[in-house]
Amino acid sequence: MSEPRIPLSVPHLAGNERSYLQECVDTNFVSSVGPFVPRFEAEFAARVGSPFGVACASGTAAIHVALQVAGVGAGDEVWVSDFTFIATVNPITYLGARPVLVDADPATWNMDAALVCEELRRRQRAGRPLPKALLPAHVLGLPTDLAPLMEVCQECGVTLVEDAAEALGAGFTAGPLAGRQVGTVGLLGCFSFNGNKIITTGGGGMMVTADAALARRAKHLTTQARRPGPEYWHDEVGYNYRLTNLAAALGVAQLEQLDAFLAAKRAIARRYDEALGAVPGVSLPPRPTWAAPSMWLYSILIDPTRAAVDRRRALEILDRHGIQARPVWAPAHLMPFYRDAERLGGGVGERLFEQGLSLPCSVGLRPAEQAEVIDVLMAALQGEVV
Ligand SMILES: Cc1ncc(COP(=O)(O)O)c(C=O)c1O
Repeated sequence: MSEPRIPLSVPHLAGNERSYLQECVDTNFVSSVGPFVPRFEAEFAARVGSPFGVACASGTAAIHVALQVAGVGAGDEVWVSDFTFIATVNPITYLGARPVLVDADPATWNMDAALVCEELRRRQRAGRPLPKALLPAHVLGLPTDLAPLMEVCQECGVTLVEDAAEALGAGFTAGPLAGRQVGTVGLLGCFSFNGNKIITTGGGGMMVTADAALARRAKHLTTQARRPGPEYWHDEVGYNYRLTNLAAALGVAQLEQLDAFLAAKRAIARRYDEALGAVPGVSLPPRPTWAAPSMWLYSILIDPTRAAVDRRRALEILDRHGIQARPVWAPAHLMPFYRDAERLGGGVGERLFEQGLSLPCSVGLRPAEQAEVIDVLMAALQGEVV
């Protein structure tokens, strides 16, 4: 594949990135100690509406540590989204726990809340063991229907941990969670600052929580579980999951631009919606009335029985025109190492994978570039030779 002319989702470094990085170099704080790390933690937590933030080396590390401080250990069950990037599920396995893969709701593309509520209550009534934690991922910047999940978790004593890696800035607009942002509803919430995310630190993550003791323990685990003092005493097996001051400097600069980034993503989504909304065989991303998605990665479904092409062919055509699109993820249960995992529901994740196509939506995407993407895609969908 040649280098795309119009990439899928690339960083937008238009603010104070250069001057904050320069400050790190000038002060010699380039590694894991330095003022940008606590500043990024505090400013990020305040921005999402959570009391504490713990910076991590990646979103995957944040999920790993969050599950561990939530008490997940060997032999425990964690119910997790099946239709998600694999990094949601793998940390469960790192801890020796067992993922139960929950299918998606076709109305949100996220964890099917009705399936979870029904099965949890059935198990509780039958006196059967319950999962230690529930780990829904807010995929593509679309909020999961968390209100019923929060309620059932409280009822059954299950810890709710959110994978908000893809959904920074998304929130709830109606119902019991109105005004809350994703990542702050569960006991712990996790975010990623990988290069393709809405804000980036090059690579990095953040765990947020309202629980001071859990935040302290998470910080301890991410810093090799070293006790304070000059000597190297470690009170448990920890990790080197620290974020560097350089990365945090980028994070602070990026966070300053988050509102503008969200506005850009939503404007791009509106233009795609208007252009593609009436095309036979195309389903637009879900827009539940109770949520404000961040529209991080704009994705559509192409029904090959109604459109002239399937998503594989559409992908090839876009690629030939220098336009980078991408299939959405294969559900985790299709990976050989999760083939035998227990599952709740089934069928929806596969259909999303077969039909889902993510389209270019970088913050810096120009209207003329987006118009070109739309023209090529429309021609493909309508069977015109392109
Ligand atoms: C849903 C989801 N969870 C977790 C991660 C892991 O984040 P990272 O790549 O920063 O480890 C990502 C992104 O990469 C993701 O999309």
